[in-house]
Amino acid sequence: MDRITIAFRPVGAAAEGDLVVFVRDDLVPVGGGQPAALAELIRRAAAAERFKGKAKAVMTVPAPAGLDGIASLHVVGLGAKDGAGPDWRLIGGAIAGRVSGREATVLADLGEGADALAAVAEMVLGARLRSYRWDRFKSKKPDADEAASPTRLTFAVADAAGAERADAAGLALAEGINLARDLVHEPPNVLFPEEFARRAQALDAVGVEVEVLGEEDLRTIGMRALVAVGDGSAHDSCVALMQWKGGAPDEPPICFVGKGVCFDSGGISIKPSGGMEDMKGDMAGAATVVGLMHALAARKAKVNVIGAIGLTENMPDGKAQRPGDIITTLSGQTVEMVNSDAEGRLVLGDVLWYVQDRYKPKMIVDLATLTGAILVALAQEYAGLFSNSDELADRLIAAGRKSGELVWRMPLAPAYDKLIDSKFADMKNTGGRHGGSITAAQFLQRYVRDGLPWAHLDIAGTGMNAPQTDINKTWSAGWGVRLLEQLVRDNYEEA
Ligand code: BES
Ligand code: MN
Ligand code: ZN
Repeated sequence: MDRITIAFRPVGAAAEGDLVVFVRDDLVPVGGGQPAALAELIRRAAAAERFKGKAKAVMTVPAPAGLDGIASLHVVGLGAKDGAGPDWRLIGGAIAGRVSGREATVLADLGEGADALAAVAEMVLGARLRSYRWDRFKSKKPDADEAASPTRLTFAVADAAGAERADAAGLALAEGINLARDLVHEPPNVLFPEEFARRAQALDAVGVEVEVLGEEDLRTIGMRALVAVGDGSAHDSCVALMQWKGGAPDEPPICFVGKGVCFDSGGISIKPSGGMEDMKGDMAGAATVVGLMHALAARKAKVNVIGAIGLTENMPDGKAQRPGDIITTLSGQTVEMVNSDAEGRLVLGDVLWYVQDRYKPKMIVDLATLTGAILVALAQEYAGLFSNSDELADRLIAAGRKSGELVWRMPLAPAYDKLIDSKFADMKNTGGRHGGSITAAQFLQRYVRDGLPWAHLDIAGTGMNAPQTDINKTWSAGWGVRLLEQLVRDNYEEA
């Protein structure tokens, strides 16, 4: 059952349940349709509570005098009257947090036109993201009362029909993000590579064509690097290829590639045990690609898109690859595998090569929880962005600002190549501690044909163990689905 239901109605009708109203820092209610007694009530309550209307602050007035039929009044701050305007996603999250499990009407008449509709859509998205939980394996649900009665938000707006239409795309996006979060949260005994591929196959329900290459297929094709990563695992490796054909038939696709290491123990170069459980999230890149494909297909985006995910598990056993092994990758380039914990680049190299050959895309973005070093460089605030194209990098940076999922561009340069030179093969799979995220990206670039716009997002910091915010109360925020949906919407869709 959905934890939140959303409805829209025109301003004017009487509210039921709780009432949510907005004020800026002058404490004057905005958003239309306010009962007459409201302004004075807010002024008095704000003085008593020292509520200043700061952005995302919420003041609750239970059983508000003079507001017949209203259980509680929630006054939501929008910040400075002359400021840049609030982040409506976070405002929506703050509302859903406060009225969780209750029914509320939000007075959201923010004026006519596209900006007002967009603001409401953002608020609704924030509310949906805030309401997400992942409690599949809790036999006693921590918030059973809330689960039993979903949050019900009705937005009173100037253009209810318009808001309804705008919300169709917003719902697709929220579903895509929450699907990615589900995948990241699933434990590695449940979500092994072939099970992950089955979850991807479920996208056929929204019109995505999905093809799965099993381990035998991968061997036949020659994706030896990807297969080598999974050699120590009891589970077979596979690749899921997702295709959404929303654009003109002759238009080359854009392509998204995800690292899907369902569990990364490090392999023979085994990781320390403390915190190793987090490595169930080493498939966050793949999860983001699946969530993005859902978001685009469910709103019938006018664009041709390929999603390709390399699914495997990195485990140590007698069949596992050894440091010192030399692998011939699909591209024909050879790799001296010196550290089995640098496995993500092996997976991605083969998948990158394969999709370029098969689909002739006009650009590729890959996402991977690739290096701990990106956390050292950027913490969890930005994902690392590496690109051979200034235009694509700028588009991603702009989409990041709009979506709130920020990326910071890092360097690629031939000078770094010497760090991954190998004595025995074309390259080795690590470049040592210094510039660890850069040498990883430099490695990936060797699997991208000259001239093809490509960007790599290192999401080791953002893809798991997510910071708690007004729109995220779980371990995974589904990072990247919003960013890439914005990128596609602003740059690659047909009019
Ligand atoms: N999956 C890890 C990177 C990672 C670290 C993701 C922390 C999320 C949080 C990756 O496969 C890895 O182990 N990278 C090594 C590379 C090193 C051996 C060159 C690392 O970062 O230590
Ligand atoms: Mn690793
Ligand atoms: Zn990994």
